[in-house]
Amino acid sequence: MNILLLGSGGREHVLAWKLSGSPKLTRLFIAPGNAGTAESGENVPLSPNDFLSIRQFVLDHNIGMVVVGPEDPLVNGIHDFFLEDGRLKTIPVIGPDRKGAMLEGSKEFGKQFMNRYDIPTAAHKTFTKENIDEGMRFLEQTQAPYVLKADGLAAGKGVVICPDKEEARRELHSMLMESKFGTASSQVVIEEFLRGIELSVFVITDGKSFKILPEAKDYKKIGEGDTGPNTGGMGSVSPVSFADEKFMGKVEKRIIIPTIHGLQNEKIDYRGFIFFGLMNVAGDPVVIEYNCRMGDPEAESVIPRIQNDLVDLFMAVSEQKLDRVNILTDPRSTATVMLVSKGYPDQYEKGKVISIRGQTHDSMIFHAGTKQDPSTGNIITNGGRVIAVTSFGDSMKEALSTSYINAEKIEFEGKNFRKDIGFDL
Ligand code: AMP
Ligand code: GLY
Repeated sequence: MNILLLGSGGREHVLAWKLSGSPKLTRLFIAPGNAGTAESGENVPLSPNDFLSIRQFVLDHNIGMVVVGPEDPLVNGIHDFFLEDGRLKTIPVIGPDRKGAMLEGSKEFGKQFMNRYDIPTAAHKTFTKENIDEGMRFLEQTQAPYVLKADGLAAGKGVVICPDKEEARRELHSMLMESKFGTASSQVVIEEFLRGIELSVFVITDGKSFKILPEAKDYKKIGEGDTGPNTGGMGSVSPVSFADEKFMGKVEKRIIIPTIHGLQNEKIDYRGFIFFGLMNVAGDPVVIEYNCRMGDPEAESVIPRIQNDLVDLFMAVSEQKLDRVNILTDPRSTATVMLVSKGYPDQYEKGKVISIRGQTHDSMIFHAGTKQDPSTGNIITNGGRVIAVTSFGDSMKEALSTSYINAEKIEFEGKNFRKDIGFDL
């Protein structure tokens, strides 16, 4: 089968790497991909949001399945676009339709969904331009810190946590009245601040049944000890030590099962990944957010631990035969360290030449923001997050130490990475 994978980050490189190991695969195309995905398949210069060009490509290249990495094509309705097209409707798309993707595409939708099915989440209220005064009064009655969230997609930047009231008021004003995040902040969710330790739980579903995938922990802050601004993610580990049988039992019973049931109840035919961003609040899981895709850099730690053939797994999702599948998990730990550009997550430069000193042993190198310079053939930086280094180990510590040894061997001007991934576990 020929497969088209959409996206260009580290998540897409690990998916491409895993798909390329399947005997069921004939040709793998990645749109637009990066310098790493080009080693697992063929990059095609198409935007994941240019549905008409994707349609033409799929028809011209006899594509038998489309796998969607990032959220925006899903929120923009790529799955619906396929279902509504006479020639595309039989081609499976891995990723939910527009309605399912709303779990991530609208925080307010996600919160209301959780409230409808009694899924534990932070208490919240939603405000618009019209009732900003009420929003300001709500802040008066609320305790610091204040959690403000743009309702729509804001490239991972739409959540602002303010330590004091004055700042929260300014932020609410800027989001609602000055469109700080464009139309994404025309509605703002203000919610209760949750205290605890975060983790990411992943499920794959065919709309009827579901399978829980290995969980992971993501390190979002740029600075060591979880300090400084949020990033797309500076590293990840899997498994997560506190996600023991008891805790995961609660996650399944209180969160996953009601979510799957809710989707069915609302006639949402969800076929793809569900990412539960959770807080462990004194031993009880609480949902921070839903995402309609795999996490990045969680995927770099989670996907290598899945021993199933990924093409088979995706076929089972599209044919609604997931109940017949057993997820086989590598018992070893994985640890991912993300190498980022100087200045990230603020302004950073691109175009720095990447070189590897000697051999990297025992690690998988997943590219994120990289590309091949067409004039020199060099691999150069092309984003804030540049390369993910992932390793296996008999323990998290061992996996991390291998990733750090190899992180030192990859060089580019301004390279930065956190030296303390896993510090809190
Ligand atoms: P998000 O962009 O939705 O992933 O949120 C970014 C980060 O903000 C999360 O990973 C949490 O660390 C933090 N966060 C979001 N909501 C809350 C909350 N209600 N309480 C505490 N932290 C939160
Ligand atoms: N690592 C968090 C995310 O993918 O949203």
